[in-house]
Amino acid sequence: MSRCSLLPILAAVLLAASLPPRAAAMVDSLLPASATALSFEEGYTQLFGDSNLMLHGDGKRVHISLDERTGAGFASQGAYHHGFFSASIKLPSDHTAGVVVAFYMSNGDVYERTHDELDFEFLGNVRGREWRVQTNVYGNGSTAAGREERYGLWFDPTQDFHRYAIRWSHDTIIFYVDETPIREVVRTAFMGAQFPSKPMSLYATIWDGSSWATSGGRYKVNYKYAPYVAEFTDLLLHGCPAGSAPPCERGGAAAATMSTGQRSAMEKFRARHMTYGYCYDRVRYPAPLPECRVGAEAEAFLPSGEARSTDRRGSRHGKRHRRAGDGVDSAF
Ligand SMILES: *[C@@H]1O[C@H](CO)[C@@H](O)[C@H](O)[C@H]1NC(C)=O
Repeated sequence: MSRCSLLPILAAVLLAASLPPRAAAMVDSLLPASATALSFEEGYTQLFGDSNLMLHGDGKRVHISLDERTGAGFASQGAYHHGFFSASIKLPSDHTAGVVVAFYMSNGDVYERTHDELDFEFLGNVRGREWRVQTNVYGNGSTAAGREERYGLWFDPTQDFHRYAIRWSHDTIIFYVDETPIREVVRTAFMGAQFPSKPMSLYATIWDGSSWATSGGRYKVNYKYAPYVAEFTDLLLHGCPAGSAPPCERGGAAAATMSTGQRSAMEKFRARHMTYGYCYDRVRYPAPLPECRVGAEAEAFLPSGEARSTDRRGSRHGKRHRRAGDGVDSAF
Protein backbone atom coordinates (compact mmCIF):
# COMPACT_ATOMS: atom_id res chain seq x y z
CA MET A 1 0.00 0.00 0.00
CA SER A 2 1.43 3.33 -0.96
CA ARG A 3 2.03 6.01 1.60
CA CYS A 4 -0.45 8.15 -0.23
CA SER A 5 -3.39 5.83 0.28
CA LEU A 6 -2.46 5.03 3.87
CA LEU A 7 -2.57 8.58 5.14
CA PRO A 8 -6.33 9.15 5.03
CA ILE A 9 -6.86 5.82 6.77
CA LEU A 10 -4.39 6.72 9.46
CA ALA A 11 -6.11 10.07 9.93
CA ALA A 12 -9.48 8.37 10.22
CA VAL A 13 -8.13 5.91 12.81
CA LEU A 14 -6.56 8.70 14.86
CA LEU A 15 -9.75 10.74 14.74
CA ALA A 16 -11.89 7.75 15.70
CA ALA A 17 -9.55 6.98 18.61
CA SER A 18 -9.95 10.48 19.98
CA LEU A 19 -13.75 10.44 19.98
CA PRO A 20 -16.18 8.82 22.39
CA PRO A 21 -17.50 5.41 21.20
CA ARG A 22 -20.81 6.63 19.83
CA ALA A 23 -19.19 9.35 17.78
CA ALA A 24 -16.64 6.86 16.50
CA ALA A 25 -19.45 4.65 15.24
CA MET A 26 -20.86 7.70 13.51
CA VAL A 27 -17.55 8.25 11.74
CA ASP A 28 -17.86 4.77 10.29
CA SER A 29 -21.42 4.97 9.18
CA LEU A 30 -22.33 8.54 8.36
CA LEU A 31 -19.58 11.05 8.59
CA PRO A 32 -16.70 12.05 6.44
CA ALA A 33 -13.58 11.10 8.41
CA SER A 34 -12.48 14.70 8.72
CA ALA A 35 -15.62 15.87 10.55
CA THR A 36 -14.97 17.25 14.02
CA ALA A 37 -17.18 18.91 16.57
CA LEU A 38 -16.66 22.63 17.11
CA SER A 39 -16.95 24.55 20.33
CA PHE A 40 -19.52 27.29 20.41
CA GLU A 41 -16.93 30.07 20.03
CA GLU A 42 -15.31 28.36 17.09
CA GLY A 43 -18.38 27.96 14.99
CA TYR A 44 -21.44 29.72 16.33
CA THR A 45 -22.90 32.97 17.47
CA GLN A 46 -25.85 33.80 19.72
CA LEU A 47 -28.92 35.15 17.93
CA PHE A 48 -31.26 36.09 20.76
CA GLY A 49 -32.24 35.23 24.31
CA ASP A 50 -29.40 36.89 26.33
CA SER A 51 -28.89 34.76 29.47
CA ASN A 52 -31.24 32.06 28.17
CA LEU A 53 -28.25 30.78 26.23
CA MET A 54 -25.66 29.19 28.52
CA LEU A 55 -22.38 27.49 27.65
CA HIS A 56 -21.06 24.51 29.58
CA GLY A 57 -18.10 22.13 29.31
CA ASP A 58 -15.61 24.49 27.63
CA GLY A 59 -18.24 25.70 25.22
CA LYS A 60 -18.95 22.22 23.89
CA ARG A 61 -22.43 22.10 25.38
CA VAL A 62 -25.03 24.78 24.78
CA HIS A 63 -28.23 25.14 26.78
CA ILE A 64 -30.99 27.27 25.31
CA SER A 65 -34.12 27.90 27.31
CA LEU A 66 -37.59 29.34 27.09
CA ASP A 67 -39.21 31.22 29.95
CA GLU A 68 -41.86 33.93 30.19
CA ARG A 69 -39.30 36.55 29.11
CA THR A 70 -37.84 34.98 25.99
CA GLY A 71 -36.69 31.94 24.07
CA ALA A 72 -33.13 31.70 22.77
CA GLY A 73 -31.19 30.73 19.72
CA PHE A 74 -27.85 30.51 17.99
CA ALA A 75 -26.55 30.16 14.44
CA SER A 76 -23.40 29.11 12.66
CA GLN A 77 -20.99 31.96 11.95
CA GLY A 78 -20.62 30.85 8.36
CA ALA A 79 -22.91 29.75 5.57
CA TYR A 80 -22.42 26.44 3.80
CA HIS A 81 -23.21 25.06 0.40
CA HIS A 82 -23.98 21.38 0.97
CA GLY A 83 -22.53 19.18 3.67
CA PHE A 84 -23.31 17.20 6.80
CA PHE A 85 -24.71 19.05 9.80
CA SER A 86 -25.64 17.51 13.11
CA ALA A 87 -26.14 18.01 16.82
CA SER A 88 -26.83 15.78 19.76
CA ILE A 89 -29.88 17.17 21.49
CA LYS A 90 -31.67 16.46 24.76
CA LEU A 91 -35.14 17.97 24.94
CA PRO A 92 -36.88 19.41 28.01
CA SER A 93 -39.04 16.91 29.90
CA ASP A 94 -42.34 16.95 31.74
CA HIS A 95 -45.10 19.26 30.48
CA THR A 96 -43.85 20.89 27.26
CA ALA A 97 -47.03 21.67 25.31
CA GLY A 98 -46.55 24.59 22.92
CA VAL A 99 -42.74 24.48 23.16
CA VAL A 100 -40.84 24.25 19.88
CA VAL A 101 -37.17 23.39 19.57
CA ALA A 102 -35.88 23.88 16.04
CA PHE A 103 -32.64 22.67 14.50
CA TYR A 104 -32.52 23.87 10.94
CA MET A 105 -30.67 25.37 8.03
CA SER A 106 -31.85 28.54 6.36
CA ASN A 107 -30.76 31.54 4.32
CA GLY A 108 -33.86 33.59 5.13
CA ASP A 109 -31.72 36.44 6.45
CA VAL A 110 -30.03 36.78 3.04
CA TYR A 111 -32.81 35.91 0.59
CA GLU A 112 -36.01 37.37 1.91
CA ARG A 113 -38.29 36.18 -0.89
CA THR A 114 -36.39 33.25 -2.32
CA HIS A 115 -35.04 31.57 0.78
CA ASP A 116 -34.17 27.90 1.23
CA GLU A 117 -34.72 25.96 4.41
CA LEU A 118 -34.28 22.45 5.86
CA ASP A 119 -35.94 21.84 9.22
CA PHE A 120 -36.02 19.57 12.18
CA GLU A 121 -38.71 20.89 14.50
CA PHE A 122 -39.41 19.25 17.82
CA LEU A 123 -42.93 19.79 19.04
CA GLY A 124 -43.57 19.61 22.78
CA ASN A 125 -46.53 17.87 24.33
CA VAL A 126 -48.67 17.67 27.42
CA ARG A 127 -47.30 15.61 30.32
CA GLY A 128 -47.21 11.91 29.53
CA ARG A 129 -47.31 12.33 25.77
CA GLU A 130 -44.25 12.11 23.58
CA TRP A 131 -42.53 14.86 21.70
CA ARG A 132 -43.04 14.69 17.98
CA VAL A 133 -40.54 15.51 15.31
CA GLN A 134 -41.34 17.38 12.13
CA THR A 135 -39.14 17.76 9.06
CA ASN A 136 -39.70 20.21 6.26
CA VAL A 137 -38.06 21.50 3.10
CA TYR A 138 -38.43 24.84 1.35
CA GLY A 139 -36.57 25.98 -1.74
CA ASN A 140 -36.37 29.36 -3.43
CA GLY A 141 -39.17 30.83 -1.32
CA SER A 142 -41.59 27.94 -1.88
CA THR A 143 -43.37 28.62 1.41
CA ALA A 144 -46.77 28.08 -0.20
CA ALA A 145 -45.86 24.43 -0.75
CA GLY A 146 -45.18 22.86 2.63
CA ARG A 147 -43.52 19.48 2.55
CA GLU A 148 -44.02 18.60 6.19
CA GLU A 149 -43.70 15.15 7.68
CA ARG A 150 -44.14 14.25 11.33
CA TYR A 151 -42.97 11.26 13.28
CA GLY A 152 -42.95 9.74 16.72
CA LEU A 153 -39.63 8.50 18.05
CA TRP A 154 -38.70 5.05 19.28
CA PHE A 155 -37.09 6.51 22.39
CA ASP A 156 -37.78 9.26 24.89
CA PRO A 157 -35.81 12.28 23.59
CA THR A 158 -35.90 13.93 27.02
CA GLN A 159 -33.90 11.16 28.73
CA ASP A 160 -30.68 11.14 26.68
CA PHE A 161 -28.86 12.93 23.94
CA HIS A 162 -29.66 11.75 20.43
CA ARG A 163 -28.09 12.88 17.22
CA TYR A 164 -30.17 14.65 14.60
CA ALA A 165 -28.47 15.21 11.27
CA ILE A 166 -29.06 16.74 7.88
CA ARG A 167 -27.02 15.65 4.89
CA TRP A 168 -27.46 17.97 1.96
CA SER A 169 -25.92 17.48 -1.47
CA HIS A 170 -26.66 18.84 -4.90
CA ASP A 171 -29.22 16.11 -5.62
CA THR A 172 -30.28 14.57 -2.33
CA ILE A 173 -31.19 15.56 1.21
CA ILE A 174 -31.26 12.96 3.97
CA PHE A 175 -32.50 13.54 7.51
CA TYR A 176 -31.18 11.18 10.19
CA VAL A 177 -32.07 10.39 13.78
CA ASP A 178 -29.01 8.74 15.32
CA GLU A 179 -27.86 6.39 12.59
CA THR A 180 -31.27 5.87 11.03
CA PRO A 181 -32.16 7.81 7.90
CA ILE A 182 -35.75 8.95 8.34
CA ARG A 183 -36.39 10.93 5.17
CA GLU A 184 -34.83 11.30 1.76
CA VAL A 185 -35.62 14.19 -0.58
CA VAL A 186 -34.41 13.73 -4.13
CA ARG A 187 -34.12 16.61 -6.57
CA THR A 188 -36.58 16.02 -9.37
CA ALA A 189 -37.22 18.01 -12.51
CA PHE A 190 -40.41 19.34 -10.99
CA MET A 191 -38.81 20.35 -7.70
CA GLY A 192 -36.20 22.24 -9.64
CA ALA A 193 -35.82 25.51 -7.78
CA GLN A 194 -37.85 24.18 -4.85
CA PHE A 195 -34.86 22.04 -3.94
CA PRO A 196 -32.61 24.10 -1.64
CA SER A 197 -29.71 25.31 -3.71
CA LYS A 198 -28.13 28.39 -2.10
CA PRO A 199 -25.72 28.51 0.85
CA MET A 200 -27.44 28.22 4.23
CA SER A 201 -26.48 28.72 7.86
CA LEU A 202 -27.30 26.31 10.65
CA TYR A 203 -29.66 27.43 13.43
CA ALA A 204 -30.89 26.14 16.78
CA THR A 205 -33.73 27.85 18.60
CA ILE A 206 -36.31 27.34 21.32
CA TRP A 207 -39.50 29.37 21.27
CA ASP A 208 -43.16 29.62 22.14
CA GLY A 209 -45.23 27.87 19.47
CA SER A 210 -48.47 28.02 21.45
CA SER A 211 -50.52 28.94 18.41
CA TRP A 212 -49.83 25.71 16.53
CA ALA A 213 -47.29 23.29 17.98
CA THR A 214 -49.42 20.99 20.09
CA SER A 215 -52.68 19.63 18.70
CA GLY A 216 -52.97 22.58 16.34
CA GLY A 217 -52.69 25.16 19.12
CA ARG A 218 -55.10 23.62 21.59
CA TYR A 219 -52.41 23.27 24.27
CA LYS A 220 -50.38 26.41 24.99
CA VAL A 221 -47.10 26.90 26.80
CA ASN A 222 -47.64 26.89 30.55
CA TYR A 223 -44.93 29.04 32.14
CA LYS A 224 -45.54 27.45 35.51
CA TYR A 225 -43.22 24.72 34.19
CA ALA A 226 -40.55 27.09 32.84
CA PRO A 227 -37.70 27.31 32.18
CA TYR A 228 -37.76 24.78 29.37
CA VAL A 229 -34.16 23.86 28.67
CA ALA A 230 -32.91 22.19 25.49
CA GLU A 231 -29.32 20.89 25.61
CA PHE A 232 -27.10 20.73 22.54
CA THR A 233 -23.70 19.07 22.17
CA ASP A 234 -21.49 17.46 19.46
CA LEU A 235 -22.23 20.35 17.15
CA LEU A 236 -20.96 19.29 13.74
CA LEU A 237 -20.62 21.57 10.76
CA HIS A 238 -19.09 19.63 7.96
CA GLY A 239 -19.93 21.63 4.91
CA CYS A 240 -18.45 23.56 2.04
CA PRO A 241 -18.06 27.16 3.15
CA ALA A 242 -20.09 29.36 0.84
CA GLY A 243 -18.00 30.34 -2.18
CA SER A 244 -15.62 27.37 -2.12
CA ALA A 245 -14.56 25.55 -5.27
CA PRO A 246 -17.09 23.44 -7.22
CA PRO A 247 -15.82 19.93 -6.26
CA CYS A 248 -16.56 20.69 -2.62
CA GLU A 249 -19.67 22.64 -3.36
CA ARG A 250 -21.28 19.75 -5.21
CA GLY A 251 -20.73 17.54 -2.22
CA GLY A 252 -19.28 14.64 -4.19
CA ALA A 253 -21.35 11.98 -5.90
CA ALA A 254 -21.23 9.59 -2.99
CA ALA A 255 -22.02 12.18 -0.35
CA ALA A 256 -25.68 11.45 0.14
CA THR A 257 -26.22 7.87 -0.88
CA MET A 258 -27.67 5.15 1.29
CA SER A 259 -26.71 1.51 1.66
CA THR A 260 -29.39 -1.14 1.19
CA GLY A 261 -29.40 -1.66 4.94
CA GLN A 262 -29.88 2.03 5.64
CA ARG A 263 -32.66 2.21 3.11
CA SER A 264 -34.52 -0.67 4.69
CA ALA A 265 -34.04 0.91 8.14
CA MET A 266 -35.57 4.09 6.75
CA GLU A 267 -38.56 2.24 5.29
CA LYS A 268 -39.11 0.45 8.58
CA PHE A 269 -38.95 3.69 10.53
CA ARG A 270 -41.43 5.40 8.24
CA ALA A 271 -43.86 2.48 8.34
CA ARG A 272 -43.81 2.41 12.13
CA HIS A 273 -43.39 6.01 13.18
CA MET A 274 -44.63 8.46 10.58
CA THR A 275 -47.72 10.23 11.91
CA TYR A 276 -48.26 12.75 9.11
CA GLY A 277 -47.03 13.02 5.53
CA TYR A 278 -47.75 15.83 3.06
CA CYS A 279 -47.77 13.28 0.25
CA TYR A 280 -50.90 11.72 1.84
CA ASP A 281 -52.68 14.99 2.62
CA ARG A 282 -55.55 15.09 0.11
CA VAL A 283 -57.18 18.02 1.90
CA ARG A 284 -54.21 20.25 1.28
CA TYR A 285 -53.03 18.70 -1.97
CA PRO A 286 -55.98 17.11 -3.84
CA ALA A 287 -53.32 15.81 -6.24
CA PRO A 288 -50.04 14.88 -4.55
CA LEU A 289 -47.06 17.07 -5.42
CA PRO A 290 -45.23 15.50 -8.39
CA GLU A 291 -42.27 14.23 -6.37
CA CYS A 292 -44.57 12.08 -4.21
CA ARG A 293 -44.51 8.43 -5.04
CA VAL A 294 -47.67 7.30 -3.33
CA GLY A 295 -48.17 3.54 -3.18
CA ALA A 296 -50.14 1.02 -1.16
CA GLU A 297 -48.76 2.47 2.07
CA ALA A 298 -51.14 5.43 1.55
CA GLU A 299 -53.91 3.27 3.00
CA ALA A 300 -52.34 3.80 6.40
CA PHE A 301 -53.19 7.52 6.22
CA LEU A 302 -56.40 9.54 6.47
CA PRO A 303 -57.29 12.16 3.83
CA SER A 304 -55.88 14.75 6.26
CA GLY A 305 -52.46 13.14 5.87
CA GLU A 306 -52.53 11.89 9.47
CA ALA A 307 -51.77 8.22 10.16
CA ARG A 308 -54.87 6.11 10.81
CA SER A 309 -53.20 3.94 13.39
CA THR A 310 -52.88 5.36 16.86
CA ASP A 311 -50.22 2.72 17.58
CA ARG A 312 -47.56 4.84 16.03
CA ARG A 313 -45.43 6.37 18.71
CA GLY A 314 -46.29 9.98 19.22
CA SER A 315 -49.94 9.58 18.38
CA ARG A 316 -51.18 6.68 20.45
CA HIS A 317 -52.28 8.63 23.46
CA GLY A 318 -55.37 10.07 22.07
CA LYS A 319 -57.22 11.49 19.23
CA ARG A 320 -56.14 14.48 17.32
CA HIS A 321 -57.84 17.77 17.62
CA ARG A 322 -57.02 19.43 14.39
CA ARG A 323 -59.85 20.38 12.15
CA ALA A 324 -59.76 19.20 8.57
CA GLY A 325 -58.55 22.06 6.44
CA ASP A 326 -56.56 23.63 9.22
CA GLY A 327 -53.65 23.52 6.87
CA VAL A 328 -50.40 22.15 8.03
CA ASP A 329 -48.40 23.58 10.86
CA SER A 330 -45.93 25.99 9.48
CA ALA A 331 -43.38 27.64 11.60
CA PHE A 332 -41.13 29.97 9.72
C1 LIG B 1 -36.33 31.60 -7.74
O1 LIG B 1 -37.45 32.47 -7.60
C2 LIG B 1 -37.27 33.72 -8.27
C3 LIG B 1 -38.43 34.61 -7.87
O2 LIG B 1 -39.64 33.94 -7.92
C4 LIG B 1 -37.15 33.47 -9.75
O3 LIG B 1 -37.00 34.69 -10.44
C5 LIG B 1 -35.96 32.54 -10.01
O4 LIG B 1 -35.87 32.21 -11.36
C6 LIG B 1 -36.06 31.28 -9.18
N1 LIG B 1 -34.83 30.52 -9.28
C7 LIG B 1 -34.73 29.42 -9.96
C8 LIG B 1 -33.40 28.76 -9.91
O5 LIG B 1 -35.65 28.93 -10.57
